[in-house]
Amino acid sequence: MNSTIIENRTPNVVSSNNDKKKVYIETYGCQMNFADSEVVLSILKNNDYQKCKNASDSDLILINTCSIREKAEGNIRKKLSSFKKLKKIKKVKIGVLGCMAERLKKKFLEEEKILDLVVGPDSYRDIPNLLKKVDKKEKAINVKLSKFETYQEIDPERIKSNNISAFVSITRGCDNMCTFCVVPFTRGRERSRDPKSILREIDLLCKRGFKEITLLGQNVDSYLWYGGGLKRDYSKATTLQKKTSLRFNNLLEIIAKAKPKMRIRFTTSNPQDMSDEVIDVISRYPNICKHIHLPVQSGSNKILKKMNRLHTREEYLILIDKIKTMIPNCSISHDIIAGFPSEDNQDHLDTLNLMETVKYDYGYMFKYSERPGTLAQKKFIDDVPLEIKNNRLKEIILKQSRHSYYRNQKFLNKTVCVLVERESKKSNDFWSGRTTQNTVVVFPKKNYSPGDFVDVRIENCTSATLIGDGLRISKDI
Ligand code: SAH
Ligand code: F3S
Repeated sequence: MNSTIIENRTPNVVSSNNDKKKVYIETYGCQMNFADSEVVLSILKNNDYQKCKNASDSDLILINTCSIREKAEGNIRKKLSSFKKLKKIKKVKIGVLGCMAERLKKKFLEEEKILDLVVGPDSYRDIPNLLKKVDKKEKAINVKLSKFETYQEIDPERIKSNNISAFVSITRGCDNMCTFCVVPFTRGRERSRDPKSILREIDLLCKRGFKEITLLGQNVDSYLWYGGGLKRDYSKATTLQKKTSLRFNNLLEIIAKAKPKMRIRFTTSNPQDMSDEVIDVISRYPNICKHIHLPVQSGSNKILKKMNRLHTREEYLILIDKIKTMIPNCSISHDIIAGFPSEDNQDHLDTLNLMETVKYDYGYMFKYSERPGTLAQKKFIDDVPLEIKNNRLKEIILKQSRHSYYRNQKFLNKTVCVLVERESKKSNDFWSGRTTQNTVVVFPKKNYSPGDFVDVRIENCTSATLIGDGLRISKDI
């Protein structure tokens, strides 16, 4: 254990809020990044910082960055330059965290002169020490990746929380090496978090009145805990290790049993690792939400192979069939990439055809963006012209919006159970919440409150939203 851990556990010095320094944090990218920002705030809170809402009021600005596509990095560069003026008129430290920090390392400090601090995803415990370096007018950097860090005993400081729904991270890193993806390089080796600490965090959330948790990992299906060991390859485990190990289905079941009044979600599932046992557990527990995010990336076997996705189109469709048979009301969402190197029109048609077969409830769709250092960048030429990538993406998005509408229409005149989360963005007379399938529902507020489970009769819909009327407090969740 290094000294920064001890420092992090030191109780707060008694001080009034006015003595505290202020940190402003902005987060880009995936849910994992949001969860990490909450860990960082907790570490800083224990070191006499309090969060603030405006960068201009702060002593420390942190940007938690994303590297997944070139555009994400471009947005972060723009954001950084918007802080240049502020830095000229105010003494403020500026730091970058996360994937872009890990990818660019020292180069980031050299390229962006306003930066004082660069911290990779596994080095957040070191932030207080790094800040002391900055106080001494030194630039500070720590981008060491770890095989073990899971921040497991840190109680995340919830940002923008509605006190209803929270992320709980269960694994970090990824070993899958999809050829297009920068994550294995920026977030390091996959490791699972001690189930005891996961349960402790969920228990705390439950006591604070939270109603829903989302278990997070780049690949939740490969969650594996050997009672102290962190070995990932299940096939190499000893018989005793196998007997005492916990896999994702076991973890899900333990949580579902322990917290029957909490909704449980998880993301992301990887088709190559999703087991029948996981599908079975989802089907058996009403508090495990009936939604699976199952990225496919492409419908073409040629492209799947080049992406190093370790399943075929046929295997994926068998898995979808299994899910729909075992959990008939399960919604399925996807990630799809348009224009991966060498993708021809037939490959694109294969993707559209797969979408037609599955009729996903919703999805996240991207055009391929070549990322430095990835296997695809080293091995393949980014040879699909931008115009074709754009056209293919447009066709994929159009198809998805038709399918989302088709799926939502199936709820018309039915009653669904909605967890009320917040006021609708479009009208302050309406609540907004989600069904177990993760579909957004809006309905008139009446006497209901955020945190209530409400039976809502669906009267209308768009491709993105169900619109209905609250009937009663629900007996379900
Ligand atoms: N762990 C998740 C995905 C993490 S990244 C999984 O198992 O799939 C989220 C999504 O971003 C990916 O599913 C992929 O669709 C997309 N993505 C990743 N790298 C990309 C790239 N280089 N260009 C375009 N999209 C990319
Ligand atoms: Fe990326 Fe594939 Fe892992 S998309 S996060 S390498 S499962």
